[in-house]
Amino acid sequence: MATLKVRKLKSFPAEISVPGDKSISHRAAMFAGMANGTTIIEGFLPSEDCLCSVKAMQAMGAIVEPLEELEGVGLVKLAITGTGPKLKAPSGPIDCGNSGTTIRLLSGILAGQDFTTEMFGDASLSKRPMKRVADPLRLMGAKVEGQGEKICAPLKVTGGNLNAIQYTLPMASAQVKSAILLAGMFAPGKTTVIEPVATRNHTERIMSHFGVKWLRDGHAVSVYGGQVPRATDIIVPGDISSAAFWLVAAAASPGQQITLKNVGLNATRTGILSVLLRMGAEITSYESSSDGEPRGNIVVKGGELNGTVIGGAEIPNVIDELPILAVAAALARGNTLIKDAQELRVKETDRIAAVAENLRRMGVEVVEYPDGMEIVGGAKLKGATISTYHDHRIAMAFAIAGLFAEGDTVIEGSECIGTSYPGFEHDLDLFMKGDTGAPPIRVLSRVSRQVGDRLRSAE
Ligand code: S3P
Repeated sequence: MATLKVRKLKSFPAEISVPGDKSISHRAAMFAGMANGTTIIEGFLPSEDCLCSVKAMQAMGAIVEPLEELEGVGLVKLAITGTGPKLKAPSGPIDCGNSGTTIRLLSGILAGQDFTTEMFGDASLSKRPMKRVADPLRLMGAKVEGQGEKICAPLKVTGGNLNAIQYTLPMASAQVKSAILLAGMFAPGKTTVIEPVATRNHTERIMSHFGVKWLRDGHAVSVYGGQVPRATDIIVPGDISSAAFWLVAAAASPGQQITLKNVGLNATRTGILSVLLRMGAEITSYESSSDGEPRGNIVVKGGELNGTVIGGAEIPNVIDELPILAVAAALARGNTLIKDAQELRVKETDRIAAVAENLRRMGVEVVEYPDGMEIVGGAKLKGATISTYHDHRIAMAFAIAGLFAEGDTVIEGSECIGTSYPGFEHDLDLFMKGDTGAPPIRVLSRVSRQVGDRLRSAE
């Protein structure tokens, strides 16, 4: 088990560029794999999660050519030649690692294929509910077999002969919405998902990017079956969920300023900015260009934060940022209430329990509720040993808390950070070092033989 030792914050780098967006990278790999022709993906996130999606598409016939890697991060540019929407049966079960996005979105794609595929994952993924995708996909005519009442992985999907459905999501989930829309691409007629609360719309945007037509009417999103994604190069923006860690560190540091460069600014993901603004942070974002997804720089100036209430329709927009927002709450004046966030209990770990437990270890008073927590702000944080429960966002949120604590903080099981943010430890070092010069420029180079061979050998 790897450990990460965090010391007190010394200084801020002037700017940071975070790696590519995880949600968009998964979708780019999947649509490129189903498209006719070759797609070049730039700004790809080479995290363990997204590489699972690439390898899955490769196992089903897509040809993957690694092109460029970024020093300390990994493969950031690749070409994927798709099979067209009908994939090839893989020779064995597909490893989805820790990735809920891979297993759920792939379930939708597999529901449209005329073969049976098995998917499995690590211990954390194997505990997460897949019934939420099994239910609608079964209604469409796919056979989905899993373990126990929650239909956990290993999951076996037998697809083909789908019929279009209209389905109202029982929970706010972009993964479930996406699985149904992906399956809908293989069902004759119009498949409609009604989402009572808006969730991230990356699947809809990437469908447009790949020439797949869809409609939105109020809360309903529909797709017509029989469309073939058209290979189109794509540039993935930086992940706002990764930028969130530095945003909070800066927002809670009076007198400091940082620029986060080339971050995705899709309005279904920028809830973290609204919450921090409400808490008193000074934030400006500059939208620059858009390649299907809005993006730009974010400048944050630190100040005194105040407690707030986070709940209702805002929750899906900040769902992945709630652990770091809980840390912001601990650093703020007054109390913060997080409510309507019961979905946190079924993430990579039970994030309500994990956040409450680790905040208490650092000397913060927390009251836990079934759908959230109340955090008493303003306590002096003390260094502690943090249990990550193999959850990347718990590890990184508490690494940031460690920057504000008296004494060292030890993050146990920090290897899980590779799930979403390769290079995080390098970036964290910039804050602990006390060196205010320009951050070192990372070198972009042609792919090394090693990375190339690793991906090619998976073919
Ligand atoms: C994701 C959707 C969210 C989010 C996850 C990625 C996606 O999950 O928590 O990290 O890429 O669609 P739910 O859709 O289950 O809320």
